[in-house]
Amino acid sequence: MKNITCIDDLRVLARRRVPRAFFDYADSGSYNEETLRANRADLEAIKLRQRVLVDVSERTLATTIIGQKVSAPFALAPVGLCGMQHGNGEILSAQAANAAGIPFTLSTMSICSIEDVAEATGQPFWFQLYVIRDRDFSKDILSRAVAAKCSALVLTVDLQVLGQRHRDIKNGMTVPPEIRLKNIIDVATKPAWAWSILNGKRKTFGNLAGHVKGMDNVNSLAQWIGTQFDPALSWKDVEWIKKIWPGKLILKGILDADDAKTAVKLGADAIVVSNHGGRQLDGAASSISMLPKIAEAVGSDTEVLFDGGIRTGADIMRALALGARACLIGRAYIYGLGAAGEAGVAKAIDILKKELDVAMALTGTNRIAEIDGRVLVGGEVKKKAARAKLKSKTTQG
Ligand SMILES: Cc1cc2nc3c(=O)[nH]c(=O)nc-3n(C[C@H](O)[C@H](O)[C@H](O)COP(=O)(O)O)c2cc1C
Repeated sequence: MKNITCIDDLRVLARRRVPRAFFDYADSGSYNEETLRANRADLEAIKLRQRVLVDVSERTLATTIIGQKVSAPFALAPVGLCGMQHGNGEILSAQAANAAGIPFTLSTMSICSIEDVAEATGQPFWFQLYVIRDRDFSKDILSRAVAAKCSALVLTVDLQVLGQRHRDIKNGMTVPPEIRLKNIIDVATKPAWAWSILNGKRKTFGNLAGHVKGMDNVNSLAQWIGTQFDPALSWKDVEWIKKIWPGKLILKGILDADDAKTAVKLGADAIVVSNHGGRQLDGAASSISMLPKIAEAVGSDTEVLFDGGIRTGADIMRALALGARACLIGRAYIYGLGAAGEAGVAKAIDILKKELDVAMALTGTNRIAEIDGRVLVGGEVKKKAARAKLKSKTTQG
């Protein structure tokens, strides 16, 4: 780990350790990957404003997200199949997040189940829901999340149909991997991965297995997933979820100011400005380019979270400067998980924290609440909006 100095190093290591089908699953975007690339390019185009001779000896990354105290302004995003990057991947990631003092989000499409993670960590985590056609399943899984004391529900709204990822098809990406000669050879050259998977608690979708009628084997489960995402999902379903979920509700996958306003009207505690990491609508705008307008439309009653393309602490600062209260981290921690399990996730979190801390120092910032348009080149023009945001942030803690 000594020579791992940035998220890209973790990516290189993950590529070596994880079978190609699963590495590509994490790394890819949909179709031509235009949006995947735009997420990164548009973040990098935003320039930070270097300031000097400001006393920055009292820096802290601590803040709150939906009222929860956190050690840094980011959480681990929901990511399907963590347990295929490394055995027990969801438990290990949750443990790393807990140790670091940031929230972990468990995906509906996880390998370890809600109960597995709750039992292994003994600490609350966020649960992400895909509403599928079988509404009874949704109701049931929400009761399980309540029983496991999940502290927030992240309702993902940008996956009514699945954006195609070419590499998944070409690689025969199934759970477990399709038996093709090249997959067998690939796995045979990744013994540490194979060992961790063999010793993992589960080999299939832990939240679904045993909870879906007539679905006893992996292949039929995979088929079930392909057919069960619901194209009829609508704002009415959000109202329904709001009624049956007793805790905080976060709507993830908002990329339009009008949709953000509707989410606010329906009482979302937070929204995540997101294009699913460039995995859904290819050709959609980058998340960061849509953030300022959405943040302005939402005002201060609903928290604005952000994801898409974050690979450095400077990226987190960029998102906060443009109106996000905090970020979700996707691939950045998944590369860590694939590279080295729990230690890799911890490393990813640590890298992002340290980079953000240095970015704060060199922009003359001591507190997260001070990060606004003024840390950006040309950001002074946003001063008025920034001041209003700072006021609301300060009152929120
Ligand atoms: C491999 C992978 C699987 C994902 N699975 C889910 C999921 O199950 N549920 C969900 O809401 N988002 C899922 N996402 C999207 C992430 O939550 C997040 O929006 C995205 O990764 C952010 O972009 P980034 O990876 O560039 O940080 C997934 C992303 C990746 C890379």
